[in-house]
Amino acid sequence: MNHRRNAPAHDDLWTEGRPIRSPRGRAVLPELSGLDNDVAIPHAAQAWLQASLLEYSSIAGFTWVARSLECLGAPIELVRRAEHAAEDERHHAKICLDIAHEVGAPEARIVTDVDSLAALRNRTDDLSTTARSALLDGVVAEGFAAARLQRTAVRCERDAHSLAAQLRRLADDELRHANFARDVIAWCVSVRPWIVDELALALDDLDERPHSSHLDSVADSDRTAAGLCTDADADAAWTEILAGARELVASSR
Ligand SMILES: [Fe+2]
Ligand SMILES: [Fe+2]
Repeated sequence: MNHRRNAPAHDDLWTEGRPIRSPRGRAVLPELSGLDNDVAIPHAAQAWLQASLLEYSSIAGFTWVARSLECLGAPIELVRRAEHAAEDERHHAKICLDIAHEVGAPEARIVTDVDSLAALRNRTDDLSTTARSALLDGVVAEGFAAARLQRTAVRCERDAHSLAAQLRRLADDELRHANFARDVIAWCVSVRPWIVDELALALDDLDERPHSSHLDSVADSDRTAAGLCTDADADAAWTEILAGARELVASSR
C-alpha cells in the first residue's frame, strides 16, 4: 500500500481553505497582477495575499471534491455541501484580498479563472484518496486554520473590531468545512471499513506543526495588528487539531 501517493507535503498543510492539488500533492495557485516590482510589499500583506491565493484555489478544490463524491455515488447531501463550501471559499478569497489591500498591497488582483486551476487533474479521486484528503486537507488543515483564526480573532477583538469580525467569519466557515470532512470520512468508512488503517498511517508523520514561510517573515509582535496568527496560538491550535484527528480515526474503527 502506498499511502503517501498524492499526499500533500507536511508544510502544505498550513493553508487557508482547501486548495486543489496537483497529482503530486502540491497546491495549485492562481496568478496575481497589480504588484509593482519596484515597490516592496510588506510581509504582512504578502501573508494575506498568499492566503487569498489558497482560498481562491479552494473554490476549485471543493468543486473537485463535489465532482469526486458524485462519481463515487456519495449521498447527494455531501455533494451539495461541497458545492456550498466552494462558494464560501469564493467569499474567503475576497476577504483575504481585501485585508491584503488594507495592509499594503492595494492594487493586487487575482487574474486566473477557477476552471483553469483544475486543468492539471483529469481523473476524479477514488474512495481512498477522497478519505485521505478529507482527513488531511479537511479535518487537519481546515480545522487548523479555523483554530488559528478563532484565536487570532480573540486577540484582535479589543483594537480591531472589523478585522476580528472578518476573521470570525473565516473561522466559522472553516470549522464547518472541517466538520463536513468528518462526515465524508464517516461515509467512506461505511463503504470500505478498512480504509481506517490508511487514515491512521496518514497521521503518522504529523507530529511537528506545519509552518508558513510567509507568516514566519512577519515578526510575532507585529502579527495581531495585521490579523495574523502568533506562534503560540499556532502551536496551541495544532496540538488541539492533531489530537482531535487522532481521536476521530481511533473512534472510526
Ligand atoms: Fe474551507
Ligand atoms: Fe476558506
